[in-house]
Order: sequence, then structure tokens, then C-alpha cells
Amino acid sequence: MDSTTQALINRRRTFAIISHPDAGKTTLTEKLLLYGGAIQSAGTVKGKASDKHAVSDWMELEKQRGISVTSSVMQFRYRDYCINILDTPGHQDFSEDTYRTLMAADSAVMVIDAAKGIEPQTRKLFHVCAKRGIPIFTFFNKLDREARDPFDLIDELETEFGIRTYPMNWPISCGVTFRGVYDRNHKTILTFADAHSGRNRIESIACDLNDTERLNSLLGPEQASTLTEQIELIDAAGFEFNREDIDHGRLSPVFFGSALNNFGVEDFLEYFLSLTPEPLPRLSEGEPVSPYDDRFSAFIFKIQANMNKAHRDRIAFMRICSGKFEKDKDYYHIQGKRELRLSQPQQMMAQEREGISEAYAGDIIGVFDPGIFSIGDTIADIGFKVRYAGIPTFAPEHFAIVEQIDSMKRKQFAKGMTQIAEEGAIQIFFEPGAGMERVIVGVVGVLQYDVLAFRMKDEYGVSYTKRDLPHQYIKRLDSSVDPSTLRLAEETKWVKDVKGNDLLIFSGQWSMDFAKERNPGLELLDFDKDAF
Ligand code: G4P
Repeated sequence: MDSTTQALINRRRTFAIISHPDAGKTTLTEKLLLYGGAIQSAGTVKGKASDKHAVSDWMELEKQRGISVTSSVMQFRYRDYCINILDTPGHQDFSEDTYRTLMAADSAVMVIDAAKGIEPQTRKLFHVCAKRGIPIFTFFNKLDREARDPFDLIDELETEFGIRTYPMNWPISCGVTFRGVYDRNHKTILTFADAHSGRNRIESIACDLNDTERLNSLLGPEQASTLTEQIELIDAAGFEFNREDIDHGRLSPVFFGSALNNFGVEDFLEYFLSLTPEPLPRLSEGEPVSPYDDRFSAFIFKIQANMNKAHRDRIAFMRICSGKFEKDKDYYHIQGKRELRLSQPQQMMAQEREGISEAYAGDIIGVFDPGIFSIGDTIADIGFKVRYAGIPTFAPEHFAIVEQIDSMKRKQFAKGMTQIAEEGAIQIFFEPGAGMERVIVGVVGVLQYDVLAFRMKDEYGVSYTKRDLPHQYIKRLDSSVDPSTLRLAEETKWVKDVKGNDLLIFSGQWSMDFAKERNPGLELLDFDKDAF
């Protein structure tokens, strides 16, 4: 690989931001984009409550409900870094989408409201990150408000998540008396000239904690002595800084700040960029593929139809794993077993799309999908034998029978259901013998049903009836089993997936036990062997 390409890959940083809704993920993202000059003013990503609109929110529904339903990708430059931020949906009903997005990231930033600490969604998302073993950075936000004791906060992370922490900075009080943070590495105090005026004038003052007189004059005797005591305590009792543990997600560098006031954000970005890894090698059938391999390779982690109603299209998002992508070159679609040219390659600044002619390992690009790609597919240089591990599917936990109302719209109903299922937003099953006008829709979170109804109406002009089923579990059957011969509880349903595989859905543990008891030797296989 030539040194220019190598340098370009080396400066790429690709990470995901996760948080419980309202912790400040959008605000932090916006501030990061501001530093990179990708947006010109605050409020671009998300305006005031009256005008709630996030650059990263695509769908009307998201705006209406004020939640981020699908994840988006934003690229910006900061100094000589090229940064790809993957935004993830905050709502737990979309954790499957989050999981796929995390597959494309090399690290994650977890934003936590310092007044609340770990919240349910932080918990769920953390476990998804931990499963991948990627570095996890923690940003405790909203220190300008009353917050919980910082020792409590890090203790909670350690005990709940079984992760070690290393505070990179330490808050000097919070709420109305919030003065700023102490940077442990540079041994400086970063203070707001006026933490509450809304002005962003930040002073960085070199300060030796042993110089009591100076510290007193800077912070006043009370805050000065509290800070000294607290730093002594974390220096003595806290974990050591260890790069290898950070790289494997065993130690989380912790930052305190206030995204809204832009406090501690630049500092965070600087440290983060120095600690978060450059594009990492990815495994292809157990063998690592270096990002610096000359040959291009990428995998698809997300498919999104109708992102923009003006262009009725479908975009496949891919993470480039090695080499350089070039616009007019022919590539090989491993699963489709054919050569193709990736058309309309683009990078995303959320809703803004920018046509590109080249991209590098670490980047996320979107390409036009004429309906040939599936999540998890690998695309590579012709002759490059590579196949990235598939992306596991979550087992649905809710099921409903969905039936079209207007038989004139049969085609649109089938198209909408199939396309949305191919995106991975829902999963569809069929009762044996049933046609495409009546499907069983399985979802991980019930909010996905709202998205489905909205999109079917908005994008395909179709309404339907929906009847919730009491079923909660889905199991696969071995292909040697003839489901019609099984003795099952009355409520147990035999269904087929789009590929014709046989599955059973159950409403409870007892009916699964029943199936096993009445059919000796019957194996109920996990929905997806890699699933959760
Ligand atoms: P999210 O993406 O994680 O859901 O959170 P978001 O950034 O939308 O922030 C949620 C709310 O918290 C917003 O207020 C935002 O202004 C506020 N916020 C974010 N960071 C800070 C901070 O450091 N300090 C304080 N005090 N507030 C912060 P909102 O009233 O819901 O919305 P808006 O009217 O400000 O847009």
C-alpha cells in the first residue's frame, strides 16, 4: 500500500455514541461537529423544543416522537483526523439496529446524565458494546446541574458493569457551584470564566495541587481542599491507566463535563482521539484482514429504504474494512456471487448526502441497493477471497398477525413488508399455506410496529389490520423434522420464514416443555445461533 493511502487510513476514527434518551447524546454530537466545522452553529443537529429536529433523524416519526429510530452516520474532519460518528437509536426497542451499528464501530462513547447515573438503556447498550470487546469511553454529562457524587458514579459503573474506570478528569463541584474540571494528565485546572453565563470562554490554568496558596486563590479554600482530597483518593485507590485494558474494553476512560455549555468537550475530543484506535483488523472466517491490505473489502451492516422521500431508493451502508474504495471500479459481491459496480456511492452527513469518488478503510459509505444486498454481506476486490462474519439477528419477542385491507394494494403490501423486513427492521413469517396478504410480523420492541405502520402508509400507501399474538418465543426446527407430524399445545404455531425454514412460536415456557415432552428427541433450536 502506498504511504499516502496508509496515512489516510491511519487518521480515521470510527465510533458510535450510545446513551439513554435525554442524557445529551445529540448535544454532544453537535458540539463535536461544531469543532470539526461540519456544522456552523449550535442547534443544527437539534433545535429548541418547539423546533425539535435532528440532523440525524430521518423519519417523520422520529420528529413526531422526538426519538431517534434509526441510526445515522456523520463524517467530519478535525485537525488531520477523519472522524466517522455512528449515531444509535436511543430507544431500547431498536437495540437490534444499535447492535448492527456497533459492528461497524471501532469504539463507543457512552453518554450518561451525571444526575441520574446508569439508566435502563445505558445498561442494555453497554452489554451490546461489551460483547464486542471494543473500547468504551464514558462522558458524564450535565455537570452544570446538580449531579450525583462522582465517586458514586464511577463506583456504579464498576459494580454494575464489571468494568474498571480511569477518570481522565475530575469535576470541581457541580450545579451552581460548578467550577470546571481538573485534568489529571496535564495537571491543569480547566475552568469556566463564568460557568453559567452561557459564554464558552474556558481558561486552562496549570496548577500544582501541592501549591495550596495558588489553589486557594483560584478555587477558594473549600473547593481547593475538596479537590486535593479527592484527587489524592483516586490517585491512591483508583485503577492504573492501562492502554491495553482500554483497547479491550476492560477499562473505561471517564470524562466529566457539560455538553450544552461546551464544557470539557474539546478536551474530551483530544483525549478520545489519542486513545481510540485507528481502524482495526476484522476477522474473515477466523483470519484477520488488515485495514492496510491493498485490496478493498467491506461488509454491509445496515439497509435503509426511502431515506429521503424525494429519492425513492434503498441505501446499503457498508463499513470499509480494508484498502481503498474507488467509484468506477468493479467489485465482487461474495454472497450474490457476482461482479458489480457500486452505484451512487455517497457519504452521509445525516440527511445531507455527498457523492464520493473514493473512501478508505474505516469509512462508512452508502451505496444504491437495487434489492440485491442483505445485512452482513461482504463486497470485495475481484479475486479477494474474504467473507466477514454475519451479523446476528435478535430473536423477536413480540408477534402479530398483519393482514392487508385493500386487495387492490396487494402488490404494495407485499413490497413494503418484504423491503422493510430486508432492512432488518421487522421479521416476517408465514403460516403454512398462507399467501403474502397475511403475514406474522415479529419484532424485538413494540415501537417497531408503530414504525412499520407509519412507513407502510407513508412510503407504500398501504393500511392493514394488526392482531397481537400472545407468543413470545421463537425456535427453529431441524430440516429433518416434519412439523405437520408434531404434537403441540394448541396455542403453539408452526410458521415459515422467507427462506422456507420451519419454526415454532410459543407463548410460554410451558408450551415449549410440552412440545419436548410429547415429541421425544425433538430439538428446539435457537432462532439464530449467534443471537442474544
Ligand atoms: P439525547 O440525544 O441523549 O436524547 O439528549 P439531548 O442531547 O437531546 O439532550 C436532552 C436535553 O438535555 C436537552 O434539553 C438538552 O438541551 C439538555 N442537555 C444536554 N446537555 C446538557 C448539559 O450539559 N447541561 C444541561 N443543563 N442540559 C443539557 P431539552 O430541554 O430536552 O431540549 P432543548 O429544548 O434544549 O433542545
